[in-house]
Amino acid sequence: MKAAAVPSGSIRRRLLLSMLALAAVLSGLLYLTVRGVAARAVEATQDAVLGSAGIAIAEELRGSEDGVEIDIPYTAFSMLGAVGQDRVFYRVLIGDVTLTGYADLPLPAEPPSGLTPFFYSTTFQDETVRIAAVERAVLSDGRPVSATVLVAQTRTAAEAIAGQLANRAALLGLGVFALAALLAVVTARSVLAPVDELAEAVRRRGPQDLRPVARAVPVELAPFVTALNGFMGRLSAALSRTETFIAEAAHHIRTPLAVVRAEAEIALRQAPDDATRARMRSVIRAVDDSARSATQLLDHATVVYRTDQRTDEDLDLGDLARSVTQALAPAADLKEIALDLVVGDGPLVVRGDRLLIESALRNLLDNAVKYSGPETEVRLTVAGVAGGVRVLVEDRGRGLGGSQPAALTARFRRGTNVDDIIGSGLGLTIVKEVARAQRGAFRLTDREGGGTCADLFLPAH
Ligand SMILES: Nc1ncnc2c1ncn2[C@@H]1O[C@H](COP(=O)(O)OP(=O)(O)OP(=O)(O)O)[C@@H](O)[C@H]1O
Ligand SMILES: [Mg+2]
Repeated sequence: MKAAAVPSGSIRRRLLLSMLALAAVLSGLLYLTVRGVAARAVEATQDAVLGSAGIAIAEELRGSEDGVEIDIPYTAFSMLGAVGQDRVFYRVLIGDVTLTGYADLPLPAEPPSGLTPFFYSTTFQDETVRIAAVERAVLSDGRPVSATVLVAQTRTAAEAIAGQLANRAALLGLGVFALAALLAVVTARSVLAPVDELAEAVRRRGPQDLRPVARAVPVELAPFVTALNGFMGRLSAALSRTETFIAEAAHHIRTPLAVVRAEAEIALRQAPDDATRARMRSVIRAVDDSARSATQLLDHATVVYRTDQRTDEDLDLGDLARSVTQALAPAADLKEIALDLVVGDGPLVVRGDRLLIESALRNLLDNAVKYSGPETEVRLTVAGVAGGVRVLVEDRGRGLGGSQPAALTARFRRGTNVDDIIGSGLGLTIVKEVARAQRGAFRLTDREGGGTCADLFLPAH
């Protein structure tokens, strides 16, 4: 019986999901960082040009007796023009009076001091502009006055470049994520490889192989393997105890029964009257019945045990049938039943457990002999058929007497046709279980012309 494990989630999936989540967060952070740095770089570039333009204009301010005059150096704007199709504005103030330029160009929040430009962004004529403000003291009428120069530029080109860089950053983020996802899959596989290898190594073992797992495993798997080895050790000890018990139980039950039977035979012969003789006969019958039951119970226990602990080998069913026929020959001879063995040509080899198949054949032949009258014939045919070997056991006995064949294979179930023939009702149960263990088929039918036909098919593999 194989109980499949109940899976609760998957380590691989959990590992993959957490690694993918980590990769997504890192890619997102990378995207935001690259985009931020790019935007700042674009702004710094624009600021540098705006600042130099402001300084260039401020340096053209000249004080005179009539006040301050300026000759706007248009080269300053050509620098700005190179940046793109943006609009440029300027404003020159002496004190708070606009000397020239756009009088409504917004002033900085705090007045600039000196030629170190002060930069700020604001809205002007419905557009976002970046403004550089510089200040310079000029002599006007012999007195120093503060002159402020503002140079502004719209941000279309800067934003376009920042947008392009942001797209690149997004692509970079996606690329990093894809790479990380690939690595996550590879890592999950390599991390779980020892688990898969261990499972495969245990799965590949034959059912008898209860040796401890000796392969080297990662430390995390060591407690599991230690527990598994401990379990297999206990299982193997329990199984060998069962095997010993079955063998010993057979011996311990049958030996004293044989003694009782022998004593009863002597008592029967020495019995002074018919009543005692009848009593002794029924004692002998009960002993035979018990011995039979013990044999069949142990045979059944062995079959059940062997079904789990089988030793498969290539078996020639012709040879096997021959040895089983020989073993039953004395019982057949007692009733003068002719045991006819017909072994077909060709390969009659099946892969299976010798003890199981022998047990099935013995029980089939035993039934045929047991339920046949004296001086009849029992035929055992072994023939190769497509995919395996077919064994037919045919007798000219009493037939099934109307009993349902399917019901007769149940445990301890005997037919209505048994009369005084001893038996325990386990023979066909054993045959059915062997057929199932070998993945074969078993059928019991009435035979044409009287008798019974047992049909056992065993697949070659
Ligand atoms: N060849 C046969 N001819 C007639 N009846 C049969 C034959 N084989 C089996 N049966 C019927 O099927 C029943 C079940 O068979 P099964 O071999 O399981 O038990 P059993 O022979 O009664 O006992 P045992 O366990 O000792 O073999 C028998 O009791 C009998 O009624
Ligand atoms: Mg039987």
